[in-house]
Amino acid sequence: VTVLADAVRRLRDAGVPTAEHDARALLRHVTGTDVEPVDEEQLARFRAVLDRRAARVPLQHLTGRAPFRHLDLHVGPGVFIPRPETELLVDAVLAAAAADAEPIIVDLCAGTGAVALSVAHELARGRVYAVESEPAAFQWLQRNAVERAAAGDLPVVAVLADAGRGLGTLSGRADVLAANPPYLSEADRDLVEPEVRDHDPSTALWAADGGMSLVRVVVAAAERLLRPGGCLVVEHADGQGVRVTDLLAERGWVEILDHPDLAGRDRFTTARRR
Ligand SMILES: C[S@@+](CC[C@H](N)C(=O)[O-])C[C@H]1O[C@@H](n2cnc3c(N)ncnc32)[C@H](O)[C@@H]1O
Repeated sequence: VTVLADAVRRLRDAGVPTAEHDARALLRHVTGTDVEPVDEEQLARFRAVLDRRAARVPLQHLTGRAPFRHLDLHVGPGVFIPRPETELLVDAVLAAAAADAEPIIVDLCAGTGAVALSVAHELARGRVYAVESEPAAFQWLQRNAVERAAAGDLPVVAVLADAGRGLGTLSGRADVLAANPPYLSEADRDLVEPEVRDHDPSTALWAADGGMSLVRVVVAAAERLLRPGGCLVVEHADGQGVRVTDLLAERGWVEILDHPDLAGRDRFTTARRR
């Protein structure tokens, strides 16, 4: 049995849904290639990370990296691992900012900075702010922001603040406000995978009021920060599409649209401030 085939079986037995992908990624992480053979020292290191993956430590915590659109972000304990479905949010932000020469863009609940840093990298003009309230997550945000700016991207202003209160000086001037807030309901606690339950920070996942409490904070912040006609782009749980669009309609937002993710589930809402 080869090292790789053995590893895949090990992860499959541990219930890892992406066993083959993860075994290859870990082998590549340890050896720089996913082609065997590996030497004794590499084999020992591979087995050590494999043990941790079999214990359901997220792959991204073992490699220290998470790919997101064109970026390869630093991640680890204390910060939410960016998800592929959030990549779609960035397309909506870029579209909303397309007509502005110098757009002001705000990313609330920024985590690693996946959304803000992608916008800065791909739009490369205007001003981009990233707001995060948790000090541990903020350290990862700063690390990624410093690295991307050093690589030549438009610098992102990272702000340690509550989404409900930060960026007062921008009031009524932002052109686009994006957010991927915590939106899972406590009722869903038994449905999430161990990687998520035990390793994503709980402040990144759970929200009161059926998962809607932080979405409400984001909408109120958008009403404070966006200029009239400015655009909100907010991610939500599948199953929250109607609640989010109703909330925005009640509060007088216009051009309210809900968008599906690649699996066809309601995933984020866009709307324009009147
Ligand atoms: C689902 S994660 C999203 C992170 C990142 N935007 C992404 O898409 O990968 C939600 C983030 O919101 C942060 N957060 C939670 N409550 C917050 C608040 N009141 N103000 C600002 N950030 C908050 C969490 O610490 C976490 O980093």
